[in-house]
Amino acid sequence: MRQIIAGNWKMYGQLAGIAAYAEAIRNAPDHVDMLICPPFTLLDRFAAALKGSPVALGAQNCHAIPQGAHTGDISAPMLAETGATYVILGHSERRADHGETNADVRAKAEAVLAAGLTAIICVGETEAQRDAGEAEHVVRTQITHSLPENFAGVVAYEPVWAIGTGRTPTEADVTAMHAAIRAALVAQLGTNGSTINILYGGSVKPGNAASLLALPEVGGALVGGASLNPADLLAIAAAAPRG
Ligand code: 13P
Repeated sequence: MRQIIAGNWKMYGQLAGIAAYAEAIRNAPDHVDMLICPPFTLLDRFAAALKGSPVALGAQNCHAIPQGAHTGDISAPMLAETGATYVILGHSERRADHGETNADVRAKAEAVLAAGLTAIICVGETEAQRDAGEAEHVVRTQITHSLPENFAGVVAYEPVWAIGTGRTPTEADVTAMHAAIRAALVAQLGTNGSTINILYGGSVKPGNAASLLALPEVGGALVGGASLNPADLLAIAAAAPRG
């Protein structure tokens, strides 16, 4: 399976710097699928700057319906017009900041699929849930309720306590969780569940990428802070094993 290396810029980035960033990453290593998910405001310019490059674009959220009276929201068909082909959904920051539920994420995922885009659905436990021994149960429940029937797309496992902290789970914990996610996907989606890339996210850096990306059932990385530096994102992509 080809690995997917996705950069999530979160609420960082302005127009100045896009051209240089796009130039730096446009020749990403060809053994991975690479994408950048900048804020909505930069999608259009990024698409122009990356024209002719295999590097794809993604958004970080969308609304569940194509249009309507929803001030401040952006729909999946609107994102498709910018040239984005992926949409991150259910990131823990959106679940925490905006109260997004599994049902919300599922409705958004249906909208993304209907618009012909690829959803990256995020799941992951909090530190309290891990300490209570509930991590796998929490993540399995998120999978069950956030993924539409017949889902085809990408799943990202991002332990909340590893995001932006410099901490990562042990290799054994990542391996166990990715195996549990794979089993949940196959139980829910049948054989289609065996072809979904399961990304790991949470403090992925050039220094730990090779060991994380080599673990069984890790199908790539969802990279936050390090993706703001093109050299770091390229180093992470270069560390991915060939699928
Ligand atoms: P960091 O790589 O900054 O820990 O962020 C991970 C993340 O939330 C990506 O979606």
